[in-house]
Amino acid sequence: MSNTTPIPEPPGLPFLGHVAELDRELPLRSFVGLADKYGEIYRLRLPGRSVVFTSSHRLIDEVCDEKRFKKIPKGALYEIRNGVHDGLFTAKVEEPNWGIAHRVLMPAFGPMSIRGMFDEMHEIATQLTMKWARYGPSHPIEVTDDFTRLALDTLALCSMGYRFNSYYTSEMHPFLAAMGDFLTESGNRPNRTMPSWFYRNEDTKYWKDIETLRRTSDEVLQERKKNPSERKDLLSAMLKGVDPKTGEHMTDESITDNLITFLIAGHETTSGLLSFAFYELLRHPEAYRKAQEEVDTVIGKGPITVEHMSKLPYIAGIMRETLRLDAPIPQIGVTSKEDTLLAGKYPVYKDELVSLLLKKAHLDPAVYGDDAQEFKPERMLDEPFNKLPKNAWKPFGNGLRACIGRPFAWQEATLAIAMLLQSFNFVADDPSYSLALKQTLTIKPKGFRMRATIRDGLTPSQLEHRLAGKESLADSISSLSVKDSVKSTGEGGGKPITILYGSNSGTCESFAQRVASDASRYGFTVSKIDILDTANGNLPKGQPVIIVTASYEGQPPDNAAHFVSWVESIKDKKALEGVHYTVFGVGHHDWAQTFHRIPKLVDRKLEEAGATRVADMGLTDVGNGDAFTDFETWEDEVLWPAFKKQYGTSDDTSDLSQAVGLKVSITSPRTSTLRQDVHEGLVVESRTLTAEGEPTKKHIEIVLPSDETYRAGDYLAVLPINPKQTVERAMRRFHLPWDAHITIGSDGMTSLPTNTSLPAHSIFGAYVELSQPATKRNIGVLVEAAKDESEKETLKKLASDSYEDISTKRTSVLDLLEKYESVDLPLGAFLAMLPPMRVRQYSISSSPLWNPSHVTLTFSVLDSPSKSGQGRYVGVASSYLASLAAGDKLHISVRPSHAAFHLPQDVENTPVICVGAGTGLAPFRGFIQERSAMVAAGRKLAPAMLFIGCRAPGKDDLYADELEAWEKSGAVTVRRAYSRAPGESGGSKYVQDALKASGEEVTKLWKDGAKLFICGSRAVGEGVRDAIMELMQSDVKGRLGKEVDGEDAAKWWEGLRNTRYATDVFD
Ligand SMILES: Cc1cc2nc3c(=O)[nH]c(=O)nc-3n(C[C@H](O)[C@H](O)[C@H](O)COP(=O)(O)OP(=O)(O)OC[C@H]3O[C@@H](n4cnc5c(N)ncnc54)[C@H](O)[C@@H]3O)c2cc1C
Ligand SMILES: NC(=O)c1ccc[n+]([C@@H]2O[C@H](COP(=O)([O-])OP(=O)(O)OC[C@H]3O[C@@H](n4cnc5c(N)ncnc54)[C@H](OP(=O)(O)O)[C@@H]3O)[C@@H](O)[C@H]2O)c1
Ligand code: HEM
Ligand SMILES: Cc1cc2nc3c(=O)[nH]c(=O)nc-3n(C[C@H](O)[C@H](O)[C@H](O)COP(=O)(O)O)c2cc1C
Repeated sequence: MSNTTPIPEPPGLPFLGHVAELDRELPLRSFVGLADKYGEIYRLRLPGRSVVFTSSHRLIDEVCDEKRFKKIPKGALYEIRNGVHDGLFTAKVEEPNWGIAHRVLMPAFGPMSIRGMFDEMHEIATQLTMKWARYGPSHPIEVTDDFTRLALDTLALCSMGYRFNSYYTSEMHPFLAAMGDFLTESGNRPNRTMPSWFYRNEDTKYWKDIETLRRTSDEVLQERKKNPSERKDLLSAMLKGVDPKTGEHMTDESITDNLITFLIAGHETTSGLLSFAFYELLRHPEAYRKAQEEVDTVIGKGPITVEHMSKLPYIAGIMRETLRLDAPIPQIGVTSKEDTLLAGKYPVYKDELVSLLLKKAHLDPAVYGDDAQEFKPERMLDEPFNKLPKNAWKPFGNGLRACIGRPFAWQEATLAIAMLLQSFNFVADDPSYSLALKQTLTIKPKGFRMRATIRDGLTPSQLEHRLAGKESLADSISSLSVKDSVKSTGEGGGKPITILYGSNSGTCESFAQRVASDASRYGFTVSKIDILDTANGNLPKGQPVIIVTASYEGQPPDNAAHFVSWVESIKDKKALEGVHYTVFGVGHHDWAQTFHRIPKLVDRKLEEAGATRVADMGLTDVGNGDAFTDFETWEDEVLWPAFKKQYGTSDDTSDLSQAVGLKVSITSPRTSTLRQDVHEGLVVESRTLTAEGEPTKKHIEIVLPSDETYRAGDYLAVLPINPKQTVERAMRRFHLPWDAHITIGSDGMTSLPTNTSLPAHSIFGAYVELSQPATKRNIGVLVEAAKDESEKETLKKLASDSYEDISTKRTSVLDLLEKYESVDLPLGAFLAMLPPMRVRQYSISSSPLWNPSHVTLTFSVLDSPSKSGQGRYVGVASSYLASLAAGDKLHISVRPSHAAFHLPQDVENTPVICVGAGTGLAPFRGFIQERSAMVAAGRKLAPAMLFIGCRAPGKDDLYADELEAWEKSGAVTVRRAYSRAPGESGGSKYVQDALKASGEEVTKLWKDGAKLFICGSRAVGEGVRDAIMELMQSDVKGRLGKEVDGEDAAKWWEGLRNTRYATDVFD
């Protein structure tokens, strides 16, 4: 073959080839990572075979040509033949049984036959729905496990009239256990490295499992033959069908093979589709709402019928888009019939295995654009879907060997999604869950849990009646539910109250906890405290609801998005009549355009929908430092007085220190409790990046908790531990010996671990914020507890006129206790004052192409003289990270950043400009590391420029050597601004100056479609914005002679946010 281009290959090892490249647990991760690095085609040499991976639409389109390529079962599929021989899934196309079964079964999977299976599908979907209904709203549902039960039970019932009854037994049916083990072992067998005797036990079990599978299926078959039935299932079709081509019937053995095949091919795939669909719906409230609206409009509250199945186009869009992003079979394999060239230049040899890497090919920007990574069901509605180029969407495989069960899976999944959205509102059990994959024959989400609240206030039995179509009871439901909830007193003897919060980093959650722990003193009992999304479509009537929420870039916090989307969509002005509410909003003035946007919106929309505002909205600005005081002042002066007036409750606030209600006893046994939304990571390296005497900046490398994945540009949330010296100060002040244990008992609500004995230093260290500024109410409690009159007087002033002194100096309760020694504060009262420990976020400064399971962070250590004048102020998380060394463990989780803050999908054609200062370099190190891996793999990338600001060369120019090497490789061009040595950066002091100094290059890249990224402090963000606007203004003037005024320039800039540029700035 002349004029050919060799297919790129990673450097391999002699004998072993590329085995070492593969992630053993999740090989797909390696295949996709290599496609990111090498581009649309690469080859791996694995023991006994070479595989060419293709991942662009143009190549997949070629490989789908059945004249040139065909399916031959290899690897795990080949092993599965031990159990099901030449059943449809595992047969070679030339095997006669494949042809006979294919022709006999095609009509059985046709639209009319599948319609006929609707009632049985409905029955199993109802079983699933009722199981979740009975769990109740706080039970975490193992999503994938329950969808797998749905798929298996549906398949067994519809294909052969057999019931596994998976929802009624805790033990797995022996057939299913055998099938699971058989599939796992079939996946393991191709990778065996030891002599066969070594696997004797595994083999014995393997053949026994096969025996169980075949015996059970054969029994069903023989039973049916003995007692013929009129059932229109797949078994009947196989028994009665005649192959139109050969006139032959399927043999008993082939029927058994295929009965098992349907279960194998259809259970994980359908379960994967449903699990991924719900994962995406929970992450995309807008899509969730549209899907639920479609169900409500098309089906309403009545029973679901087969006629509805074709009238749910949006749900169809959701399923197609889910299968695009996460095809449960993420790659399919074919072999080349002859030596051939792909794209006219890449040589592929006869019989060589070619993988169609759908997980990557379905993201091809040439077909799906630069937002291909995003979940957008709209692009998969019928019209655009039908216009997709041929072979651009292949989750069901190709040509003759495409999935025969597609219509079956489609109807089953459509029905399940519709029934579940009609019946429940869902929230993610862990709102910060980031997708982890489990790979067996297929892929599915790992560890994904959600919670389900029945809609319309129904009880499980009312729901059961509705699903069964018993209208009369369903009709009386809404009035029942309202009456049910109007109880005059809660379980604790007070009036019930619901508290809901929207919170990403814990501020609003701790306010919600605070109001919950105060409620009993004002005559209320908390009937529910939970995230806002649990009240999506479901606000209780007849009891007050307190809502505390923040905003993020003008959007709701992650756990409030579904709720906000719902209240925004309510049109009926009476929909929420009977709901009593009040809102407290948290915000930061730096986000001037969207300051407090979400709390204000919720407050207004609830009123517009007919709800009654019982107390005026309260607002606080965390940028001003005394948010806790603002919240407590609102509680004391607005919330509780209004509630008292409205509900006639009485309060008991006589003794503040006692009222906080924590009882503490000191004992010895130990135990520990961990937060749920973070998991254990391991530090492997830590080093200082700055010169002696400079403010310290550090680099830390961490192994992610298993299963967590990330993209360059994402964040890492870190749950820190207070600095040792701060903990020791607290222990000293309360005269606690170093080994003291404490047990906390509480009558009210608290976020501290209760009724369990824990070391005092771990409570102080891990559970509470010790350095938050004291609130006015906190100081009020100190006044009560002060023994010395003059200290009492000083503290009284601090709690009133001189409070500013506290907030500007950020004086903590601990600072005050140390200063005012006569204050005899009970330990329980102190603990009750402290907010729970919050996570801090850090930009990840590495790329998964460097290491998919490790991340690095680049951070500034906050350690400076305290504004309170008492010692040093040591930042909690930054000092905690700085204290860690190789081998230490910590609690972390990956949090995705804004969709726009990632490298462009089309790296070959879209230039990149990154601008940052100080640790603002963090995400860009990840970006450039990623590009450098691509360049090293031989890819040609569009240009990238990095503008970076620091003080001086050799002092704090982070990663200078690395950046130099990456610059030499062509991955980036670096321009610096040295603020304390501008002479060494061509006169540029700050990055914005450097940007302007390179104005021509920047303008050219911008015009070539560059994406711009900004990271650092807010001031840097503003400086860069001004510089870019100036460049634009002077370009227009130069070309067109026109002046663009400041206002228009600002509008132009705002209009391009998150399309042409993305910022990641926070002070
Ligand atoms: C999305 C995002 C990404 C981020 N990425 C990074 C990153 O990559 N690298 C990085 O270094 N940081 C990053 N940050 C900032 C980081 O999250 C932390 O805020 C920072 O490390 C400080 O946390 P800390 O726990 O050490 O300080 P804290 O204990 O939380 O203290 C901070 C508070 O103390 C106040 N304070 C400061 N100095 C004093 C003083 N002298 N006396 C009294 N009070 C004082 C501050 O005003 C602030 O309110 C990021 C932030 C966000 C939101
Ligand atoms: N994803 C994110 O949101 C993210 C990620 C990482 C870091 N950060 C934030 O970024 C900030 C960087 O902190 P750091 O300690 O690393 O920085 P730093 O070392 O204090 O400052 C870095 C450089 O920026 C310069 N600078 C100061 N004011 C500037 C301005 N108005 N315009 C342009 N440059 C300016 C400094 O100059 P002089 O000191 O000489 O004036 C210095 O040369 C922090 O607020 C951190 O929280 C955010
Ligand atoms: C969303 C759900 C499903 C997906 C994504 C899916 C996907 C696929 C894919 C990609 C193939 C081709 C595999 C290859 O080329 O090696 C395939 C084949 C097959 N599927 Fe499905 N499938 C699903 C559901 C089902 C169901 C429910 C059944 C059975 C009722 C089923 C039965 C089969 C069979 C028998 C084959 C082999 C067809 C042949 O080669 O003749 N599938 N499926
Ligand atoms: C990335 C980011 C974006 C923000 N956007 C806004 C905003 O648009 N409007 C606003 O009022 N506050 C905004 N804030 C401030 C938050 O609302 C504030 O930090 C609040 O305390 C967060 O509450 P939580 O800790 O309960 O999540 C933003 C904060 C961050 C980190």
